[in-house]
Parts: sequence; C-alpha cells; structure tokens
Amino acid sequence: MTELNLILLGPPGAGKGTQGERLTSAQPLEYVVTGEILRAAVRERSELGLKAKGFMDAGELVPDELVIDLILERVRGEAASDGFVLDGFPRTIAQGEALDAALAQLGRDLNGALLIEVPDEEIVRRLSGRRVSQSGRVYHVEFDPPKVEGKDDVDGTDLIQRDDDKPDTIRKRLSVYHAQTAPLIGYYEERGLLHRFDGTLGVDEVADHVAKTVSTLRLEDDV
Ligand code: AP5
Repeated sequence: MTELNLILLGPPGAGKGTQGERLTSAQPLEYVVTGEILRAAVRERSELGLKAKGFMDAGELVPDELVIDLILERVRGEAASDGFVLDGFPRTIAQGEALDAALAQLGRDLNGALLIEVPDEEIVRRLSGRRVSQSGRVYHVEFDPPKVEGKDDVDGTDLIQRDDDKPDTIRKRLSVYHAQTAPLIGYYEERGLLHRFDGTLGVDEVADHVAKTVSTLRLEDDV
C-alpha cells in the first residue's frame, strides 16, 4: 500500500479534529494536530509555548517562523513515512509553500486537501458547546456528548473548555480564518487537490463522506 498525505482545512470548529481522529483511528496515518502541539507547549511553559500563548489567547495565528519548522519536522519523521494527516497546517499561503517545498525535497506528493465547510453562524454555537479532554479528544455537550457528563470516555478524566472558545475570541479566529487561511482553498483547488465536505451534516455522515473520498484517493494512488 502506498503512502497517503492529506491535509484538513476548514474554519475553527468545522470538525477537523473530530474527523481527523476518526480518520486516523481507521487508517495508519501519522496525525499531526498543530493546535494540540501548541497547547501542549503552552502547558509545559516551553520557550515555544511562552511565545505562542499570547497569539493563541487573542485568536491570532502564531507567526509562521515558529510553526513551519515544528510541523515539517513531523512530516519528515519516521512515523509519517507511510503518510500523514495534517490538522491545522498549513494555515497561510507561506505555510502551504513551505510544505510543498519540504515534500518536493523528500520526493513525495500531497494527495488531497479535505475542506470541511461550515457557515460562521454555526461555528459560534459549536465552539461554545465544545469540551475537550487533556489528551485532545473532542466532545460537544449537545451534538457529541461523552457517555458520562463532563468525563472523558477513554480515561474518565475531567473535560475542560478551551481558553480560546469564548465568543469574542471565536469571532476573531473566524476573521483570521477568512483573511489568512481561506486563500489556501484556491491554492489547492487550482491543483485539483481540493475535496469539499458539508460539515453541517452529522458527525457520522461527514465521517462517511470523508472515508469514501480517502478510499478513492488510495485507489487512485495505487493504480
Ligand atoms: P486549532 O486548535 O487548530 O483550532 P481551530 O482551527 O480553530 O480548530 P478547532 O480545534 O477550534 O476546531 P475543529 O475544526 O478541529 O473542530 P472540532 O472537531 O473540535 O488552533 C488553535 C490556535 O492555535 C489558533 O487560533 C492559532 O493561534 C494556533 N495555530 C494552530 N495552527 C496554526 C498554524 N498552522 N499557524 C499558526 N497558528 C496556528 O469540532 C468543534 C465542535 O463541534 C466540537 O465540540 C465537536 O464535538 C462539534 N462537532 C464536530 N463536528 C460536528 C458535526 N458534524 N455536527 C455537530 N457538531 C460537530
């Protein structure tokens, strides 16, 4: 089986994390979640975390120079040699170009950009009801509740609300998405790599559509 290299695109709260988790539990692909890597750095109070925290709390992007090498190191790593799913990277055209250059250097290709589309008005509702576990599992109090209220299904630890899931910060994140990340849609569409998904459907239905597209990409890559 050949490798499969994918990115997940979409506004904050579109369901990238929800779908990325499902996709990578069904397929042996390295799952690289930029937001989680940055939040772990903030928790550990590492140099990166201290630099990133202010941007994240304000709903702004962490500067490219802090993010690009961090993520490309994972793409080049042994664990990603059979393929990867990048969630939250690239988020600017400069990041997209850096990914292309790194893959070209490795003699590898990007196979698809999976865009999960959800209108802005739905995003605020979703993110205000989101709860996450320490290890990054994602729930929603109404749409995807845990088995026991407030507890992670897997390890039973308390679920928390993310600091950047406050209404003002959510609106800032959305405007940053439209200004800085949405241009990547055209970037990948022009190269025939873009696949659009209606993220307003239920979690299982979106997962089905994503899984079908990914199977087709695998078949195309195998022939
Ligand atoms: P990051 O953690 O990547 O945040 P995001 O892109 O804003 O995405 P989210 O994690 O908020 O949402 P999601 O699309 O994963 O949705 P989820 O599955 O959780 O980034 C955080 C910050 O880090 C950024 O603001 C920035 O500062 C920094 N950063 C990250 N990457 C960077 C980069 N490359 N460059 C620079 N800075 C960077 O779902 C949301 C909720 O909806 C959940 O509660 C879920 O249960 C629910 N839900 C999911 N799907 C459905 C559905 N189909 N129906 C109903 N509910 C659903």
